[in-house]
Amino acid sequence: MAVTNGRPGQDAFAGQAAIVTGGGSGIGAALVSALAACGASVVVVDIDEAGAASVAEKVRSAGGNASAAGLDVRDAAAVADLVSQVAGERGGLGLMFNNAGIAVGGLVEELTLDHWNRVIDVNLRGVVHGVHAAYPVMLRQGYGHIVNTASLAGLVPGPGLAPYAAAKHAVVGLSLSLRAEGARRGIRVSAVCPGFVDTPLLGKVNEGLPQTEIGANAAAGVARLGKLYQADLLAQDVLRGVERNRALIIAPRSARVAWRMARYAPGFAMRGIIAGVRRAEAERAAERSARERPVATGQATRPD
Ligand code: NAI
Repeated sequence: MAVTNGRPGQDAFAGQAAIVTGGGSGIGAALVSALAACGASVVVVDIDEAGAASVAEKVRSAGGNASAAGLDVRDAAAVADLVSQVAGERGGLGLMFNNAGIAVGGLVEELTLDHWNRVIDVNLRGVVHGVHAAYPVMLRQGYGHIVNTASLAGLVPGPGLAPYAAAKHAVVGLSLSLRAEGARRGIRVSAVCPGFVDTPLLGKVNEGLPQTEIGANAAAGVARLGKLYQADLLAQDVLRGVERNRALIIAPRSARVAWRMARYAPGFAMRGIIAGVRRAEAERAAERSARERPVATGQATRPD
């Protein structure tokens, strides 16, 4: 398949029916736009129905083909209904992007079982529901590509993100196992493993759950790492990886470096990660005492 100017080839996606869960925002919305620009007919699925509708509307006003559906990926029956409806109406399902996800962060000792259950329900069970619905349809067709959004945290240790990392490691394991099963039957499976990407996710860590210091400061902490990778660039990486049938699509480059380090020098990488945890703890302690200092001395309320 031809790839020109570093962009995914139009032919690979033109006319294909695609479902993108979590398509109402961030990486999912960028995938929807990139797929539609390549001629795919995209169903934008999100628990945020208005977000999905507005992404689909934007695609249509740019001349693309998209529709929207409000749906919670934790609802297996709803996911199955949608998949069979889309496949029925469009004469098949070429691409299933199981991308919807949430962020949960905090030290394990301060997390509740609700933190664990929520992230497993959405980030792992949500992907399982998409796979369980789409794979039999694709087997009957004899073709199709399932693309599961995991994370770099699905490949390397994620201190401060243990439940998230656990769910994402499971998504990588699920994807690679299914890839091996599906290969001889014409079904392709890839896992997307991005490093930090500039999306609203980082400002919604632990949404609807008890907040933690790590969760509350996630967006600011990540911003300190420098300019974040943009979702539209990641979407191009993903479509190129899908076109080339990559098992793992890891981006940006810094994420590939981190993965190689953890894979080929795990002891060295772990020592670096532990040093990073110490540094982050020291920074949080310094920020805590800076926040508390003015109140203790009364400076915060003193007029200029
Ligand atoms: P986002 O918050 O911008 O988009 C996630 C979308 O998923 C939202 O529109 C949200 O409404 C939807 N969603 C959440 N729960 C849902 C549910 N139960 N059912 C249906 N839709 C639901 O976040 P972003 O960054 O675009 O995340 C997309 C995926 O990328 C997630 O799986 C996330 O874990 C993963 N990821 C994100 C990274 C980042 O730095 N932003 C890095 C690595 C992976």
